[in-house]
Amino acid sequence: MVCFTTENSNKNGKKYLVTCALPYANGPLHLGHIRSTYLPADIYARYLRLAGNDVVFVCATDEHGTPIVAASEKAGKTPQAFVDYYHERDKAEFSQLGFSFDIFYRTSSPENKELTQHFFTRLSENGHIYEREVSQAYCEKDKRFLPDRFVIGTCPHCGSEGQYSDYCDNCGKALTAGEILKPKCLHCGTTPTTRITKHYFFRLSSFSDSLRDYLKGNRELQAPVVNYVLDWIGKGLNDWDITRDLDWGVPVPGEHGMVFYVWFDAPIGYMSSTVKLLGSREKFAERWRDSKVVHFIGKDIIYHHFLFWPAMIAGTKEFKLPEAIPVRGYLNLQGRKFSKSKNWFVSLEDYLKAFPPDYLRYYVTSITPHNVEDADFYWKDFSDKVNNELVASIGNFVHRTLTLIKRNADSRIPTIDTSQLDDADKSVLARITTAKTRTAELLEKYEVKSGLEEIVALSGELNRYLSSREPWKDTDAGRVARTLYISTRGITALGVLLYPYLPFTSEKLFDMLHIDAKKLRWNDADRELLKQGTVLGEFAPLFVKVDETQIAAQEEKLGKV
Ligand code: 2FM
Ligand code: ZN
Repeated sequence: MVCFTTENSNKNGKKYLVTCALPYANGPLHLGHIRSTYLPADIYARYLRLAGNDVVFVCATDEHGTPIVAASEKAGKTPQAFVDYYHERDKAEFSQLGFSFDIFYRTSSPENKELTQHFFTRLSENGHIYEREVSQAYCEKDKRFLPDRFVIGTCPHCGSEGQYSDYCDNCGKALTAGEILKPKCLHCGTTPTTRITKHYFFRLSSFSDSLRDYLKGNRELQAPVVNYVLDWIGKGLNDWDITRDLDWGVPVPGEHGMVFYVWFDAPIGYMSSTVKLLGSREKFAERWRDSKVVHFIGKDIIYHHFLFWPAMIAGTKEFKLPEAIPVRGYLNLQGRKFSKSKNWFVSLEDYLKAFPPDYLRYYVTSITPHNVEDADFYWKDFSDKVNNELVASIGNFVHRTLTLIKRNADSRIPTIDTSQLDDADKSVLARITTAKTRTAELLEKYEVKSGLEEIVALSGELNRYLSSREPWKDTDAGRVARTLYISTRGITALGVLLYPYLPFTSEKLFDMLHIDAKKLRWNDADRELLKQGTVLGEFAPLFVKVDETQIAAQEEKLGKV
């Protein structure tokens, strides 16, 4: 992507620091990943930049934790080689989808190690950390502790076999240490023994009151999520075991064979990636202090972001709490959960081989309201939306207008007498301004779906205007000129308003019109961007219809193992 990248961030504007949940570097990204977090966050960040704000948009791969060690062992690789591969792959696929991160970093970085250890030191100094002995599964054969995912067994709730000791994939229940039945070492199958080991605990329980105040005092947090979390607090928070007997992770200062639990260092990755981006801890601290901090997340990690993370931040007495944490639900695929093992799965790689990124951005946004409800990806729905809305409404309006200008106006943007504009013309211009204002208001509130609907509604009205004016058979040359001119205002408005959503399309459109997209701002949506008298160059349709056979081919692949 060339245009509309981080370059159009305005250093003098209001400061934002926007983050997306950090994907685990342990498998290919699929369509489900982008819906709750990455796409809405990218639309938001792109909008903010275009609207003249100073934006830092951060993401990274989450590279620690037992699932990653277990997966790397299974793949016969070192954890480092394993995460290196997925880090590069995720980065490339995110970039192909146009996600405009200012940095895509990693939690195994030196900056994250340093900042995580700093957090631990500060929290210890402030009295929020204590040591406690815990009994832990131990494999006598491999001579190592077996945290979380290193023990598999039978779920005590549903009887499903081969489940991890911390979570049953079959019934979705979280399991506590020692609960799993018929435990076995994941690596060698030996029944583990139990050993006593020292862990560090974070006094989460002592933050109940301050967390309540934070949740109740922040109007940007979604009410249903807040109520849910307040309910958890009401039931009593447990202190949190923040270390593991493992080699892969951020080492606990002064200990051997002990690292921090992945959920301790992961959110610090938001900060440490910003340290890397800005070049120093001081610059980061200043930036965090001065920014509106917004964390986009999926609903599975509410607990971590509404409780652990704010408590960790508050406990340091060094940083302020995030201003907003927009939460969204999961994406299912044709009525079922995504599952790699059952091949009920569409990887980003496969999608990108078949269709343009903007089609996915469009469709997924259209099924992603700002709430925690789940949505369903249906290939048929995907093609219907692309064909009926993108192609038949937006693409058609742009192409019809440009073709008419070529045929009826000698390829020139008509020159008009503005005093002659009639009510219909004026109402189109007013409608553009309304769409700009409303979409901005919605985007500021993370309502990306409603914002898109506003733009699609504008496109519908532009089409109706053009059709009702019938310039192809109008004999009043002045009116034809005005109709076509007003329509060009519609085209450039769509180009600007759609930029956060469909950056590739927007870029293609402005390239075709020889407008330097890098210089554009949100407020240009209702300005004259194509000067009267300008000669149009070559142009081509913005979108191509999705064919039924393409959809059938995708559906055919699902579920085949
Ligand atoms: O649930 C996950 O996929 C985690 N990797 C998200 C981490 S978000 C943040 F806290 F780092
Ligand atoms: Zn179960």
